[in-house]
Amino acid sequence: MATLQLEHYNIEIGPIGEAHFQWLADQQFAGIAVLTDSNTAQHCCPIVEAGLAKFNPTYIEVPAGEQHKTIETSQYIWEQLFQAGAGRNWCVLNLGGGVIGDMGGFCAGTFKRGIDFIQVPTTLLSQVDASVGGKLGIDFFGVKNSVGLFRDPRAVWADPRFFHTLSDRELRSGFAEIIKHALIADAQQWNELQSMTTLSEVDWTNWVARSVAIKQQIVAEDPMEKGLRKALNFGHTIGHAIESYFLETDTPLLHGEAIAAGMICEAWLSAEVLGLSSTELEQITSYFLTLYGHQTIPMNESETLLATMRQDKKNEDSRINFSLLPSIGAVEVNQTASPELILKSMEFYNESGR
Ligand SMILES: NC(=O)c1ccc[n+]([C@@H]2O[C@H](COP(=O)([O-])OP(=O)(O)OC[C@H]3O[C@@H](n4cnc5c(N)ncnc54)[C@H](O)[C@@H]3O)[C@@H](O)[C@H]2O)c1
Ligand SMILES: [Zn+2]
Repeated sequence: MATLQLEHYNIEIGPIGEAHFQWLADQQFAGIAVLTDSNTAQHCCPIVEAGLAKFNPTYIEVPAGEQHKTIETSQYIWEQLFQAGAGRNWCVLNLGGGVIGDMGGFCAGTFKRGIDFIQVPTTLLSQVDASVGGKLGIDFFGVKNSVGLFRDPRAVWADPRFFHTLSDRELRSGFAEIIKHALIADAQQWNELQSMTTLSEVDWTNWVARSVAIKQQIVAEDPMEKGLRKALNFGHTIGHAIESYFLETDTPLLHGEAIAAGMICEAWLSAEVLGLSSTELEQITSYFLTLYGHQTIPMNESETLLATMRQDKKNEDSRINFSLLPSIGAVEVNQTASPELILKSMEFYNESGR
């Protein structure tokens, strides 16, 4: 068990047990609603159901998947809260991956001008990334996370037992964010990661705790994403464009898989722009290729890829914004690169897989 104590709430990493439920009882909420999607209702509820029974919670289930992270689903959640008689002193427990955390937090954060919520992230991605930092929201008008708010949960309960029912692919995808956190902030963690080429015997409590601590520290210095928090964007400028492109094909990539390719490209840019050493570039490239294999970025689609990067909301003017590594364990925000250099970085990625 590991606890990360923040100013207003704790992040508990480890098996959810009696101490959690006792704490919940101590809060004396007037009622508890548990939000799940169809998968977490089946796979994750059994882990917490018995402990929650004494609170006689209202279960709200929505369909699984990013395509349901919408205002329509939110409306359904608000309706269910009304029908259960939820008031200002209720608490919503968001039991699911990043979709449930973002949307459940959004619904709770706006219901009757905001009620409390607890994040119970059930994917690796949501434990190390989505459940920390207070960003909540839904997809709207075809734009991801375009409507939402910043608001902290009352607690985060991250239990690695939830990973037992995640596919290897989902787990590996979430792991990319752990690698990212090491690359931007902790060379020691990066060195330890080098020896981990299979994810079957990872001490998750330890790794989730250390990785969350990195994200939390960055968020604490820039809670409203005015500057420094962009550090977390390493690999994501090009990674998002790759993700968007493959989303339209028959072989979509998971977020972490696309970001892994993006991190190779942006490590190459780091070498060009900030002088990341060739030894470290090689280390990074070979580690990602070992874990994630290789996809080919279609260079005949380069204009579409660049257009996606230009639309990124982290750009401040017409230039494409990057967070790059001067060396492993350090990061510099607000870096830019010409379109030619960006295309070269993707060519480097394509070559690296040959
Ligand atoms: N708020 C933030 O700071 C932040 C950061 C990163 C990502 N996000 C958001 O997170 C979302 C992605 O998160 P995600 O990858 O967790 O997606 P997700 O919530 O869609 O979960 C992925 C899939 O796994 C299923 N699932 C969840 N837990 C499971 C379990 N324990 N066993 C079996 N199946 C399980 C889900 O039903 C879903 O089908 C995106 O919407 C993204 O925008 C938010
Ligand atoms: Zn990410």
